Amino acid sequence: MEVKKAVITAAGLGTRFLPATKALSKEMLPLVDRPLIQYALEECADSGIEQVIIVTRPNQRGIKGHFDTSVELERILQEKGKTDELAKVRKASGLAEISYVFQEQQLGLGHAILMAKDAVAGEPFAVILPDDIIDGDVPAIKQMKAVYDRYEASVVAVEHISKDKVSSYGVVNPERIDGKVSKVRGLVEKPNPDEAPSDLCIVGRYIFTPEIFAMIEKTPRGAIGEIQITDAMHLLLERQSMYAYAFDGTRYDTGTPLGMLKASVELGLKHPEFGVDFRSYLTQLEL
Ligand code: UTP
Repeated sequence: MEVKKAVITAAGLGTRFLPATKALSKEMLPLVDRPLIQYALEECADSGIEQVIIVTRPNQRGIKGHFDTSVELERILQEKGKTDELAKVRKASGLAEISYVFQEQQLGLGHAILMAKDAVAGEPFAVILPDDIIDGDVPAIKQMKAVYDRYEASVVAVEHISKDKVSSYGVVNPERIDGKVSKVRGLVEKPNPDEAPSDLCIVGRYIFTPEIFAMIEKTPRGAIGEIQITDAMHLLLERQSMYAYAFDGTRYDTGTPLGMLKASVELGLKHPEFGVDFRSYLTQLEL
């Protein structure tokens, strides 16, 4: 069955980015020229995803407002002859068919994904964590869909991470199939560097078979009271095969101010309109 749906989780509290995220959700923070969540929607549209389910908090209006058609704004831009701006505004509202589900309490990523169970309706689906931006020639989800099509099993995106940083990630115990694909033998959450089974760390892209929902429902709340998706993945692994895929592309963790700054500089330098000017600005800074 083709992967046509994606769940974008955007209900977190974004505490590492306070106070910027006190009234504005992290996913609405701008990276270069558009909010983080728009990158996720563009990745979906470029990967053949037709339906997107966004998990939000109740009263978190910004995200829906960003993707809804704004008749008034479009009329004003049209009247003023601002055609480029009009095209940008229209692009945001035409990326995919979007529905919204609420996560009332922030009980972790596993719980956030569970909120989309009814909307996913028994199909395989992608999950995007919008604060992990992946820049590359082929969208990460499109690459992962090809792996799903080959094995018809869940696929998790992984990245080679240096030993001193693996303790911040879920790490895969891999059985290598080729340079990019491994069969997952096991998962270890935040291991000590010396006990990590590999350097392949899980990042914010997944494709799951619908059986993951039953596994999340069976997963108890962990040490910090959250339902972790890696715990549900352990349960899924007992029943089904799972694959790890080392995607082509560069990932930026924009969930912290420093990560956002790095992504802003690197993607700003590539921007077709002002990348050249930005480069000359940076080179004349006396660093
Ligand atoms: P993070 O681990 O970045 O958590 O979640 P967070 O709460 O947003 O940020 P910090 O750690 O407090 O700074 C990864 C993704 O999962 C979503 C977040 O919105 C983010 O896109 N998430 C996390 C939820 O939707 N619900 C949750 O309960 C937790």
